[in-house]
Amino acid sequence: MLTAEAKVSLTGIKPTGEPHLGNYIGAIKPALELASGAESIYFIADHHALTSVRDPELLRRWTRSVAATWLAAGLDPERTTFYRQSDVPEIFELHWILSCFSAKGLMNRAHAYKAARDRNREAGSEDLDAGVNMGLFNYPVLMAVDILIMDTDLVPVGKDQLQHVEYAADIAGAFNAVYGDTFSLKLPKAVVPQEDSGRTLPGTDGRKMSKSYDNTIPLFAPTAELRKVVRKIPTDSTPVEEPKDPDTSAVFQILQHFATPEDTASVRSRLEAGGMGWGDLKNTLLVTLDDRLAPMRERYDALMAPGSELDELLAVGASKARARAKPVLEQVRKAIGIG
Ligand code: TRP
Repeated sequence: MLTAEAKVSLTGIKPTGEPHLGNYIGAIKPALELASGAESIYFIADHHALTSVRDPELLRRWTRSVAATWLAAGLDPERTTFYRQSDVPEIFELHWILSCFSAKGLMNRAHAYKAARDRNREAGSEDLDAGVNMGLFNYPVLMAVDILIMDTDLVPVGKDQLQHVEYAADIAGAFNAVYGDTFSLKLPKAVVPQEDSGRTLPGTDGRKMSKSYDNTIPLFAPTAELRKVVRKIPTDSTPVEEPKDPDTSAVFQILQHFATPEDTASVRSRLEAGGMGWGDLKNTLLVTLDDRLAPMRERYDALMAPGSELDELLAVGASKARARAKPVLEQVRKAIGIG
């Protein structure tokens, strides 16, 4: 949780797909709520996505789509700083500089790189670095730069990104050890949301909703598509009249996150009493999602339209971000004797 002394929080979002309901409940909504007390910075880590997204049209579309989603979900571009990583060239200069202060051994231990080597080992490959490019290897350095160049106090991240935030503090320390306190001493701290429980949605196959399982429900699909996807969610064969356990139903679990507490309670008791069938429950979910998401979807569609204000908003964000990044880079350049 944010504390009173906390000032600036930074959230990085990698554009690797169309936003789905799981992203909204698990990441977008909590991030917007968590940061509402601090000065918040949000950015789209489009260069980070290059380690896996190799289709220029997709990268462009996902970057816009992620930006439009966060804005539609309530991110206020006036009160916050919201930009695309690629619009802040200072980041890439600092990336080189800090790579000269990032121990290779530290990167050898970074979990994504280690996982890639483990996969090669399991596959019996002789070269454990097969398929590993320097972007994957340097990923944590670029992320450290994202954090340090904005002089952030807090970095809300999932458990999987904790190590990277610690690396940012290490790398800043390595630089400071040579040149004195160039990076501020209030080293960035990760904020990991409390146990994910209650924030994970089941997908259309009942497993956790995730792009890698191909079981997602898109956040802004038109009603007809939403209906098709909701129909796919598995249910058991309990007949309509019989009582049902809402807590073992994926449909009900999704509903809970979008319906009002009163509506959730009423559906729960109808299921428990018997007489409400799964088809009926799916219709309720569909109507609820449609109602709840319609206003956001309208804003999203408007922002996604060519020539919308999206580009303008991101350009304003980029200049705010650059104004913040420049003095940090300036200090660093001065310290090392360049410029
Ligand atoms: N690595 C993060 C992810 O995969 C995205 C990210 C890039 C990030 N730079 C960041 C997150 C800086 C927080 C701070 O989700």
